[in-house]
Amino acid sequence: IGVWLVGARGNIATTAMVGARAVARGETDETGLVTAREPYADLDLPSVASFDFGGHDVREGSVLASARRLAERSGTPDQSVVDAVTDDLRAIDDRVRRGTALNCGERIAELADVEPLETDRGAAEVVEQLREDLRTFRRERGLDTVVVVNVASTEPEVSDPERFDTRDAVASAVESGETDLPASSLYAYAAFAEGCPYANFTPSAGASVEGLREMAREEGVPHAGDDGKTGESLTKAALAPMFAGRNLRVLSWEGHNILGNTDGAVLEDERNKAGKLASKGDILEGILPDIGHNRVRIDYTPSLGDWKTAWDYVHFEGFLDTEMTMQFTWEGSDSALAAPLVLDIARLLAHADERGEAGVQRHLASFFKAPLGVEEHDLSRQFEMLDDYVRECL
Ligand code: NAI
Repeated sequence: IGVWLVGARGNIATTAMVGARAVARGETDETGLVTAREPYADLDLPSVASFDFGGHDVREGSVLASARRLAERSGTPDQSVVDAVTDDLRAIDDRVRRGTALNCGERIAELADVEPLETDRGAAEVVEQLREDLRTFRRERGLDTVVVVNVASTEPEVSDPERFDTRDAVASAVESGETDLPASSLYAYAAFAEGCPYANFTPSAGASVEGLREMAREEGVPHAGDDGKTGESLTKAALAPMFAGRNLRVLSWEGHNILGNTDGAVLEDERNKAGKLASKGDILEGILPDIGHNRVRIDYTPSLGDWKTAWDYVHFEGFLDTEMTMQFTWEGSDSALAAPLVLDIARLLAHADERGEAGVQRHLASFFKAPLGVEEHDLSRQFEMLDDYVRECL
């Protein structure tokens, strides 16, 4: 199958592609891939080694250069692994196309140094070009299925998303050429129009507007999102149910994240940060409806590179009004945590597509901070949803 990564030259995309090729060449094992463990390993999923990659980006450079930079600055992946897959990355680089930064805000426009697709074109023509790129990839590589995954920079939030509540509203916005629908939604539109499953690994709008969900259902295409759950939020989704289960009242939960990669630089802009803060904060509100103070901070600390540190401080109250605290520190390689999930999601969406499933794939909730169509935020219950799906399929 084909995996088309939007944001192909970014850290997550690069690490996912290096990782898949390293698995294919026996340079690494599948630790970190959810679908490599039981019971998911029993599903008839396409192998990671068989993935054919391509994608869009709006920045100069190459996947190979990004991989070398990551190895040098962050140590993940290791330089020897990058060397082992260099030829594969060169071949992938030939399949990375110029993307669109339409309605992505100033921060991303500054980042984009490739002339984006929309220069002299409206949204309708941009979408046509994105579709053409997907068709060419499919045809040239002889692929049955192409899964599109959005791992591009986080966009500012869409104002009044209810304007795009129906498929017709989305279609006429795209046709008018005047739309303020952001690039992530245009990529989703192009994917659905080409019958490609789509995942949104970012908090950007993507396919979350109701009109695009309707389009996916009508076109018979499965999709999932939003915003990958990889580090601090994953820990929160596992820990918060413990407080709820023991009837311990959380008075305050402060989460402070510092990171140094381009994602961190983009999130310095308050407009781009807003969506990320919302999806991170909502996890606790979902599990602990009576939570007192709940705050998430994200700051850019350039010297950290692709490493993220999160410090969480939980102030809670127990029996006899006794106040206690719990603190934890999370130090993770952002891309090494995210990349295997991108591969997992691609495998599971390809499987859903093969089974003829359409619309939001609720069983993928455990992968996302703000799972579409799912109110449940308790991580172990979300894992059960995936287990139930697997049982149904086997
Ligand atoms: P990155 O900054 O290294 O990569 C993003 C790439 O997207 C860049 O190459 C950029 O040029 C490209 N890009 C930006 N706008 C684009 C557009 N409109 N079309 C095509 N390409 C575009 O960021 P990274 O670390 O790879 O993260 C990617 C996304 O995943 C971010 O939105 C981040 O917030 C999100 N995310 C990351 C998690 C993690 O653990 N690393 C967890 C959850 C979400």
